[in-house]
Amino acid sequence: MAGVIFDRVNKCYGDTEVIRELNLEIRDQEFMVLVGPSGCGKSTALRMIAGLEEITGGQIRIGDRVVNNVAPKDRDIAMVFQSYALYPHMSVRENMDFGLRLKKMDRGEMDQRIDEASRILGIEKLLERRPKHLSGGQRQRVAVGRAIVRQPSVFLFDEPLSNLDAKLRVQMRAEITGLQHRLKTTTIYVTHDQVEAMTMGHRIAVLHDGDLQQVGTPLELYETPRNLFVARFIGTPPMNFFRATIADDGARLTADGVELPVHDSLRRITQGRSGKEVMVGIRPENLYDVKRQTDHPTARIRLKVALVETLGHEVLVHGHFGSDERETDPSKLLVGKVDPHSEPELNQEIEMQARLDSLHLYDPETEARLGEEGE
Ligand SMILES: Nc1ncnc2c1ncn2[C@@H]1O[C@H](COP(=O)(O)OP(=O)(O)OP(=O)(O)O)[C@@H](O)[C@H]1O
Ligand SMILES: [Mg+2]
Repeated sequence: MAGVIFDRVNKCYGDTEVIRELNLEIRDQEFMVLVGPSGCGKSTALRMIAGLEEITGGQIRIGDRVVNNVAPKDRDIAMVFQSYALYPHMSVRENMDFGLRLKKMDRGEMDQRIDEASRILGIEKLLERRPKHLSGGQRQRVAVGRAIVRQPSVFLFDEPLSNLDAKLRVQMRAEITGLQHRLKTTTIYVTHDQVEAMTMGHRIAVLHDGDLQQVGTPLELYETPRNLFVARFIGTPPMNFFRATIADDGARLTADGVELPVHDSLRRITQGRSGKEVMVGIRPENLYDVKRQTDHPTARIRLKVALVETLGHEVLVHGHFGSDERETDPSKLLVGKVDPHSEPELNQEIEMQARLDSLHLYDPETEARLGEEGE
């Protein structure tokens, strides 16, 4: 097994730079998720590790070996693609042992590996079938099985679940996570789905337009997103933002119709900055009905209800704050959570409470988080 290191890696197609100065270390045995919106460079990064794309600048190391000029077949990696990429004219067994036959492994060893992998994945009864006689989920398992039998140092997954229906996706998500836990093979997993990223990764690397935004554990990204992009990307429903002005020497945040006392933990950021504007972030789970008992410090915000979404275990309320023409101003829209049995009506004025010790503050110009990492 081995870790993988991107050391100042660049990738250009002609004049277009699609990965910029990427520095990222994936530790031995780690499950790292690369996440970001479409086109941000996730697949390109993965394909560079696999050797399917050339590197324009910098180095990629697998273990202690620089692999820039190593052929894909000699990199000791196995990749699972979104399309599965199974050979249609071969049986499941032949698909799985194809790479091993190329390596001239002996039959006994091959059979043993296939038995074990197919048992882990529950595909023992499918070994003699052709891919076209399998469901999408079964094909996906075969593609994963083909990667396992190679016993590589590193697994690479490129959106392996996006062709599956929602229920199967959740099941396969758990299976792949469990598999990695057992095999402990270093894994780099690409997805655009932040829920997959949060639930599967030991750590997550967020990419945007070819730039690495933040690397951290799921909880680190959730609790301290270091810029507005990560704050908007991680968490569902996404974090709310509104512009506010610092008042009273940092003791209050004010916006149209909103007055929030600044919690002690944020005073260090707001002190001495009266008159300055900040972007205030608050997660929907930290904006809840006033009936809820809480030990946390909160302040009230009045909202005019614009939309109510009933999810069973909770109700999401979207509402506008402030006075003038707020109904049409998306920058005054907040989403909060209320008790499943309360039924706010459209256009009703309601009071919510905002948890003050979990507000996030960002610089509206640089979009960087104010506080923790310095400013
Ligand atoms: N062969 C190519 N020639 C030119 N540009 C390319 C090529 N392959 C990819 N790109 C560009 O590189 C950027 C990154 O592409 P990449 O496939 O890595 O994105 P991605 O994050 O995997 O997106 P998705 O979630 O849609 O799969 C995109 O802007 C894409 O258009
Ligand atoms: Mg991709």
